[in-house]
Amino acid sequence: MTPILITDKLTKVYTGKKKALDSLSLEVQAGEVFGYLGPNGAGKTTTIRLILDFIRPTSGSAQVFGLDSVAHSAEIRARIGYLPAELNLWNNLTAMQVVRYMANLRGMKDLRYALELGERLEFDFTKRIKSFSTGNKRKLGLILALMHKPELLILDEPSSGLDPLMQQRFNQLMLEAQQNGQTIFISSHVLSEVQVICDRVAILRNGQLKEVARVDSLTTADYRAVTLRLREPAPAGVFEALPGASQVKVDGKVVRLNFSGEFDPLMRALSPYYVEDLDLQVPSLEEVFLTYYGENPTNGNNHAQKSGVGAKEMTK
Ligand SMILES: Nc1ncnc2c1ncn2[C@@H]1O[C@H](COP(=O)(O)OP(=O)(O)OP(=O)(O)O)[C@@H](O)[C@H]1O
Ligand SMILES: [Mg+2]
Repeated sequence: MTPILITDKLTKVYTGKKKALDSLSLEVQAGEVFGYLGPNGAGKTTTIRLILDFIRPTSGSAQVFGLDSVAHSAEIRARIGYLPAELNLWNNLTAMQVVRYMANLRGMKDLRYALELGERLEFDFTKRIKSFSTGNKRKLGLILALMHKPELLILDEPSSGLDPLMQQRFNQLMLEAQQNGQTIFISSHVLSEVQVICDRVAILRNGQLKEVARVDSLTTADYRAVTLRLREPAPAGVFEALPGASQVKVDGKVVRLNFSGEFDPLMRALSPYYVEDLDLQVPSLEEVFLTYYGENPTNGNNHAQKSGVGAKEMTK
């Protein structure tokens, strides 16, 4: 495998602040769709701006196409497609004027793919940028990032502001780009938005990389989210004592827990109780992540130990 993007202990401290990015070491392989996930303020945009040399690292370094991100920023930028988090330029130009301008800069003559992208995203090239909604700015940003079919796409929250139909079209464009051999680095704060297109996802929190995982290893979560409604309340201890049970929450007659392994012990523990309702859910990828990396890391660790799926195993 060839890494196309490498960061080595990449760190950024904005003046007088805590570390916005704290020693990030990451590799993105050629041809993969890599999701870069984290809540607001996690450091996603900071990472992207460092990679593109819009800001300089406090320490550490990044390489794109094997080139140092600071020493070779011009060449790197020429070979990538970048969608910024916010597109706030060229307010008085029409979208078509912007597309022509960018095509000229890139030495492109053939605008057919740009127009095709516009059609598929139901985008109107004749309007002025200042009249665009957030979603339409996002579409223009996508067209500008994709139209030259670059080797590497770096997209900062591409799907925010897109309605569900456009989100689907966007996903399709990403899959086509991947089939075309392009590598995609995509930031998002919503896992469910990117899980269908990503091969791997990284989780960033407070500037620190928490985990890198293959999406297919996560979708086969080995536990079920169980909700029980009992006729009479039962003490939490009944469930907490069971091997395979974690995250037990008792709220009156309603019991919620995650359960892994064979169900017989749970059934036996329930035999003294009258069960009015039982619901079993395969957790979504988002829930799996929250279980491991949620606000309460102790719970996640407990679960990881009990179920035998350690966080590290998820990296394979
Ligand atoms: N120019 C700046 N000057 C000072 N602090 C900054 C600057 N840009 C970002 N920060 C701080 O750095 C941290 C990381 O911000 P960043 O924008 O990288 O997060 P993000 O993950 O992109 O968040 P979001 O999901 O909201 O886009 C935040 O605490 C933010 O307040
Ligand atoms: Mg951001």
